[in-house]
Amino acid sequence: MARRSASPIVTIDGPSGSGKGTISRAVARHVGWHLLDSGALYRLVALAGLAAGAASEDQQRHAELAARMDVSFGSDPGGGERVWLDGRDVTGEIRSEAAGQGASRVAAWPGVRAALLERQRAFARPPGLVADGRDMGTVVFPGADLKIFLTATPEERALRRHKQLKDKGSDVSLPALSREIAERDLRDQTRQIAPLRPAPDACLIDSTRLEVGAVVARVLELMAARRLWR
Ligand code: C5P
Repeated sequence: MARRSASPIVTIDGPSGSGKGTISRAVARHVGWHLLDSGALYRLVALAGLAAGAASEDQQRHAELAARMDVSFGSDPGGGERVWLDGRDVTGEIRSEAAGQGASRVAAWPGVRAALLERQRAFARPPGLVADGRDMGTVVFPGADLKIFLTATPEERALRRHKQLKDKGSDVSLPALSREIAERDLRDQTRQIAPLRPAPDACLIDSTRLEVGAVVARVLELMAARRLWR
């Protein structure tokens, strides 16, 4: 029987729009564990750079900002998530496509990734952690108890993002969004450091034809099989 660690970790990696965020949040809530939305940290570095007037190609300055930015995650009375950066509420701004594009740019820089490493590892606390990102299973938590790699076809991912943005009142065209997603995929997969790819020991889940509930159920099943939960 697998031994249950005091602070187990489940990593959920995958490309933009694969549903990682939704699934990770639902799984963490279901089992009562902590959640690390690592993409939010890269988005915050991009926003911190804009707020500080840093030149968009200044890697050193962005790495410094990544190391010292003051970040807090919380929720509003309705249960929605809220994010503050250096005391400023950036809840809306952080989810914009511009922040996502900026994040993908700064995420290719080794200094920024190194500056965020310990900050991410500090999220691993009892009773457990669900970590969502691109390199959670490969770099940040290589010893994780369960690694999931979530995929969906590019068409399905663009449709999902489109719906998400539309629900938030953003008017982005589907073809433009598909192009941006393809660009971001390419940059995330081909960068030198921590490229997006499944860990060799990851369980692959293709969510193209699955409802959120079915994916969550599959992850919970895998967790139960490893005695991480229940
Ligand atoms: O997941 P999300 O869309 O919020 O991530 C924004 C960007 O941050 C990604 O496109 C990726 O370039 C970067 N990222 C990363 N490593 C992570 C999480 C996100 O490089 N662990």
